[in-house]
Amino acid sequence: MSRSRKLLAVLIALVLWPAAHAGRFDGIGRVATPSEIAAWDTDVRPDFQGLPPGAGSVAQGEKIWVARCASCHGEFAESPAVFPPLIGGTTRADIEQGRVAGLSAASENSKTTMMKLSTVSTLWDYIHRAMPFDAPKSLKVDDVYAVTAFLLNLADIVPADFTLSDKTIAGVQARMPNRRGNTTEHGMLRVDGKPDVLSKACMSDCPVNFGSMVVLPSTVNGLNGNLAEQNRPYGAIRGIDTGRHP
Ligand code: HEC
Repeated sequence: MSRSRKLLAVLIALVLWPAAHAGRFDGIGRVATPSEIAAWDTDVRPDFQGLPPGAGSVAQGEKIWVARCASCHGEFAESPAVFPPLIGGTTRADIEQGRVAGLSAASENSKTTMMKLSTVSTLWDYIHRAMPFDAPKSLKVDDVYAVTAFLLNLADIVPADFTLSDKTIAGVQARMPNRRGNTTEHGMLRVDGKPDVLSKACMSDCPVNFGSMVVLPSTVNGLNGNLAEQNRPYGAIRGIDTGRHP
């Protein structure tokens, strides 16, 4: 076969193969059932599409927090033991303005979850799918509402007698301290509306932007061994030394 004929044959095969094999991967897996898809399809979007109906109060959430969450995140979600603190670093002025001033403070190297979070749906969704860390997906829907309400109360976003529900959650969004924090005015997502980066490609002796580094407080050093020793043994060593130092 000539080169051009070979190319034509390959092209025809590429066009015909998917049509001929659509839905017919005999012996390879099977079609997912509606209930399997439903089990995976749990995402809650910023416009609350996907949020199941339910409700839970701050007081109920406090009980769940103490029993299921405090051991890792601290009584007031302030602990840096397993992760940067969930709550802290936001002010009443931030709630009014929708932008957390402390995020741009160079002195503040521990950014809490609540400082960065712009959508309450993300908090609900994450707890629903991933927490508690030692038993993900074990909370009932109402429990997720309750424990989310408790965290929102710790951050002074809702009062102590508040009940979070699918009806009240939109009002909470309007008080999220960093709700205006989302921006495309950074290095990403701005090329003709398509995902991309603005940075110039750099393959050697690249400058490091220390201003954007996240640093764990030294009090947590040693909790997970020395990260510097756990990096893959090629390329630049990226982990900092987190071994315990006297
Ligand atoms: C056994 C320890 C443990 C328990 C218990 C636990 N967490 Fe977590 N939590 C973690 C760890 C570790 C992470 C970081 C996980 C990751 O990044 O993969 C995390 C992350 C989170 C985050 C996301 C923080 C962020 O900024 O991304 C939230 C919110 C959270 N936990 C809430 C809860 C709630 C609510 C409970 C109780 C229902 C809970 N956690 C119980 C260990 C725990």
